Amino acid sequence: MHELRSLLPYLKPYRRVFLVGLALVVISNFFATLGPRFLQHGIDALSDGGGFHEVRVAVALLLLVAIAGGVARYGMRELLNSGSRRVETDLRDQLYDHLQRMSAEFYDRYSTGDVMARTTNDLLAVRMVAGPALMYVVDTTIRALLIAPAMVAISAQLTLLALVPLIGLPIAMVSLGRVMHRRSQEIQAQFSELTSHAHENLSGVRVVRSYRQERAEIAHFRALNDTYLYRNLGLARVQGAFFPLLTLLGGLSGVVILYAGGKLVMAGSVSIGQFVAFGVYLAMLVWPMIALGWAFNLVQRGAASMGRINQLFREDPAITSPPSPTALPPATGARAVEFRDVWFSYPGARERGRVLQDISFRVERGSSLAIVGPTGSGKSTLVDLIVRTYDPDRGAVLIDGVDLRQLSLPDLRRAVGFVPQETFLFGETLRRNILLGAPDDGRLERVADISQLTEALPALPDGYDTMLGERGINLSGGQKQRAAIARALAQDPPVFVLDDALS
Ligand SMILES: Nc1ncnc2c1ncn2[C@@H]1O[C@H](COP(=O)(O)OP(=O)(O)O)[C@@H](O)[C@H]1O
Ligand SMILES: [Mg+2]
Repeated sequence: MHELRSLLPYLKPYRRVFLVGLALVVISNFFATLGPRFLQHGIDALSDGGGFHEVRVAVALLLLVAIAGGVARYGMRELLNSGSRRVETDLRDQLYDHLQRMSAEFYDRYSTGDVMARTTNDLLAVRMVAGPALMYVVDTTIRALLIAPAMVAISAQLTLLALVPLIGLPIAMVSLGRVMHRRSQEIQAQFSELTSHAHENLSGVRVVRSYRQERAEIAHFRALNDTYLYRNLGLARVQGAFFPLLTLLGGLSGVVILYAGGKLVMAGSVSIGQFVAFGVYLAMLVWPMIALGWAFNLVQRGAASMGRINQLFREDPAITSPPSPTALPPATGARAVEFRDVWFSYPGARERGRVLQDISFRVERGSSLAIVGPTGSGKSTLVDLIVRTYDPDRGAVLIDGVDLRQLSLPDLRRAVGFVPQETFLFGETLRRNILLGAPDDGRLERVADISQLTEALPALPDGYDTMLGERGINLSGGQKQRAAIARALAQDPPVFVLDDALS
């Protein structure tokens, strides 16, 4: 529960929206609970043999409070829903900001799927606390506070009797709600397994065919699909029992007051109008009591989700700019790179030992160095240290004599053009993929020429303005690499690093 406290700063900017919304909860309930009172007067006027005029007044008043209550209720939903949506949006922005600043070491520890789940499902669960849960808790409380005295005024004994089955409502809701939630989560998990399995196998359909795996594949899919069916049936069973149970509990209250209340009417201690009003009051409590149970579950889920989100917020980026960065000495064109007694092991895999051990070398400005070694020997690791994807455990990497850790991150990234081993292109035009923030001042043609991307142009329908597919899927492997090289060159970097990017 204490995790939810971190939601407060996000509510604060919208406190007026929330306060007015909650005030409208009170107002709408005030009008709603006036209704039965007028009903009671109307009916009693009839049974006392009073004039029809009084019935007309009661009808007019009923209409009036129904309209006023409805308007207030509309305003309450509107305000509280929009408030919670704004809180959700702010929280999502903050989280995305935070994720943008995290280093590679963070993404070694958290899988993309996990991070995505926290920014979607968990965020949604938190919104449900700021929206519906808050609204229903206040709504039920206010309604109960307004209705209870009116019910007790009619008959304290009857009130007690009617409340017993009513208390069962939130309890049933909490326990059945939990089972239903668990089962629907299992269904969702199964569905995503089913779809990702289908996705993988359909994209690898050529491999499946050439290795004659169709039958095995169909059988595997069928098994996953069957599990999906059983889980759905399991949920349908609980859901099937859910509404009848709630109706039964609500109905029991009705039975109790018909019997016990009927006796009181016969004895003359309760008027028919009061008896009817009592029934209406009771009916007015049924839904809020159910909603209370629902809200209880929402708050619990929301607190757990907030905890998972807070865990991300508590992570600090491992790689940051120093508080007072050193500027690189002025230079035109190239810069020198030096490794001084560098030792390194991956923070997430220390037990696998050192990847780099006592590395020292110097590349003078304007010269180049090629590093050759078997797969897994640490070539990519070494060049990753030049862009501070990680920091060395011991020793230092320097550019023009300045330790990288003393440079501001933007300065460092401006100084080094880096083509990673695995190219990543965005589903954007080729032009924007290459420039990526650099000005479009004719450099595009120049860098495309150097990286020999120009050769690929005739095959592209719109030249540089061809839209690439997701991750640049409509380019060949070699074309993607050349585009990535052109991208690094477009930044005019004094230091240029290529990681296995020349196939
Ligand atoms: N993110 C990582 N976390 C843990 N170990 C890693 C990571 N990346 C690479 N390694 C390990 O570090 C070693 C060097 O990898 P790498 O530098 O990619 O080799 P190369 O580029 O020379 O083929 C390998 O044993 C590899 O398994
Ligand atoms: Mg490599």
